[in-house]
Amino acid sequence: MINEKSKQFSSVFNSHQSRVIAIIVTFFTTLFTISVFLYLSITPSTEFEDDFGVNLQDNHQGVISKIWDLKATGSGSSIGEWKSWIGLSDGRDRQKESDKIRELINVFQDRFPKDDGKAARDLNKPSLERLADCIASNTCGEGEETVVILASMHFNNAVMGKTSGEDIWARSSLEALHSLNYTLLYTFAPMDTLTLYQGLSDRVKTIIWESIELKKCMKRNETNWESLEDGHSPGKWQNTTTGRFGCVRRTGYEEGIPLEKSFTFHFWSGAENPLGAHFTLSPENYAMWNHGIGNHYLGYSIESRCKAITLPSSKEHKGMALGKYSKYFNTSSTEWVWGKDDILNQVVNTMPESDEKEKFELIATIGHYEKSEVTEDHVRFHEMNNLGPLPQDEWYQTLASSKFLVGVGKPKISPSPYDALCFGVPFINPVLSWNRTDPDDWTKWYSQHDGLRPYGPPFVYHVQKNNKEQLEEAMRLAIENPIDSFIPPPMTRTAVRDRHRALVETDWKPWAIAAVKELWTDKGKEFPYLVEGRQHL
Ligand SMILES: *[C@@H]1O[C@H](CO)[C@@H](O)[C@H](O)[C@H]1NC(C)=O
Ligand SMILES: *[C@@H]1O[C@H](CO)[C@@H](O)[C@H](O)[C@H]1NC(C)=O
Ligand SMILES: *[C@@H]1O[C@H](CO)[C@@H](O)[C@H](O)[C@H]1NC(C)=O
Ligand SMILES: *[C@@H]1O[C@H](CO)[C@@H](O)[C@H](O)[C@H]1NC(C)=O
Ligand SMILES: *[C@@H]1O[C@H](CO)[C@@H](O)[C@H](O)[C@H]1NC(C)=O
Repeated sequence: MINEKSKQFSSVFNSHQSRVIAIIVTFFTTLFTISVFLYLSITPSTEFEDDFGVNLQDNHQGVISKIWDLKATGSGSSIGEWKSWIGLSDGRDRQKESDKIRELINVFQDRFPKDDGKAARDLNKPSLERLADCIASNTCGEGEETVVILASMHFNNAVMGKTSGEDIWARSSLEALHSLNYTLLYTFAPMDTLTLYQGLSDRVKTIIWESIELKKCMKRNETNWESLEDGHSPGKWQNTTTGRFGCVRRTGYEEGIPLEKSFTFHFWSGAENPLGAHFTLSPENYAMWNHGIGNHYLGYSIESRCKAITLPSSKEHKGMALGKYSKYFNTSSTEWVWGKDDILNQVVNTMPESDEKEKFELIATIGHYEKSEVTEDHVRFHEMNNLGPLPQDEWYQTLASSKFLVGVGKPKISPSPYDALCFGVPFINPVLSWNRTDPDDWTKWYSQHDGLRPYGPPFVYHVQKNNKEQLEEAMRLAIENPIDSFIPPPMTRTAVRDRHRALVETDWKPWAIAAVKELWTDKGKEFPYLVEGRQHL
């Protein structure tokens, strides 16, 4: 029986006709499969849809995607999903996404025309064009599709080359964010920020706000919107488009900017964000000096700009006093730390001469005089040789050729002592208050530059206010002990970049929810904003 059957089977299998049929079937199946793959791989999804005049995207999810439980992406389509399923695409309708971004470019320019005072805003168009291009052609590099909105004027200032402490911080943040290849967009106020957020929605991972602008954004509603209008951020368009007035995501304005992505850029300690310290970015690690209580340390780095400068080959026999405002040098002011009888000048006069018999000199670069004072540059000011305000390069060269930089009380936590250390110039840091029974416990100090408290000689000399002996010793040691370039480890370019990456790539929603509970609802306070990331309407 078995033999009989297998014989029959093999005779059928071996028949010439069957083989030909099998070959033909195989040939056509293969041809068909290859054609389908080729068709799907070269046909853009939108063209396919346009041919049939059906909007597959908005109205229904394809049957196939239902069968296979493919995730509707909002911008996906049946054909796109098929391509995705067979591994030919990621299920995105790239052309449509790209068109939406191009539309945003026009809307943004329409609402916020060119303005010379807001030069950085002009950078948005090329950035958005690059994003639209790389999305359409699927060539976006790592990080490029991650959008960060910079809604503080300090980023504009940084682009314009301004140099306040905040601007220097912003410049470092720009460097870090650029090195991570994120798409960066510049805004100034609530409504330009909202326009970009609404045009890009989930692509926007982080918004860095000026706190006063975030406050305005939170306040905006249908009754107060007109009073919150201002020249540089007109939002009248809400009256003519949706008729819905708002800015931050809340009940009644679900399409607003999510608070859990909203951080504020705040130079000083103390929280400046409705979600508290964790959402308040900080240039210094205040929390580390305060039992973990403090703002979110983002920090900055002066490494790049310092290393770009060619240092003088030798130092001159001089020190430099920090501060550009003459009021910082007012010996009657309570903020001046070197006594009414100016021990700074007295001590300078006791410093030894150089090997070449030059007298030691203290120089200053004071340029902002009070009305009652001499306004002429190149004058002796408090016995110092005041060079007056210098252009930045010259200021760096002057600092770099000095044997130390000494503080006089203000400005507080300025970036300049970090420049000094990076140039190999020690800093003399005035300590304003300390624990009388344990004066060496630096965690209890309040000093001109608290960020430098953890570092000691030969880099930083901490000197108690009005203490002539300590000041004299510090100056002498600084002159005798030249240092190499020093950058505090948390302030290297790499360390700063890593913290920026964590800021942008972490989902902070759990922190936001915890903050709402701790700071608002647990205290019985109402919090009308949505931080649970509800879908847009
Ligand atoms: C950013 O892009 C450049 C050029 O496309 C690339 O060389 C670099 O590795 C990227 N950086 C990161 C952090 O992805
Ligand atoms: C809008 O906000 C203001 C406070 O800024 C408030 O007095 C007013 O009641 C709010 N209007 C609505 C409709 O919520
Ligand atoms: C808002 O729109 C309404 C209706 O179109 C109009 O009457 C009103 O004047 C507009 N308000 C402003 C400030 O433009
Ligand atoms: C110096 O400080 C004192 C005390 O605060 C003040 O009265 C005086 O006007 C200041 N001098 C100048 C030139 O600013
Ligand atoms: C000051 O230092 C002493 C001795 O270490 C310590 O007992 C005291 O608690 C400190 N005071 C403050 C305010 O930290």
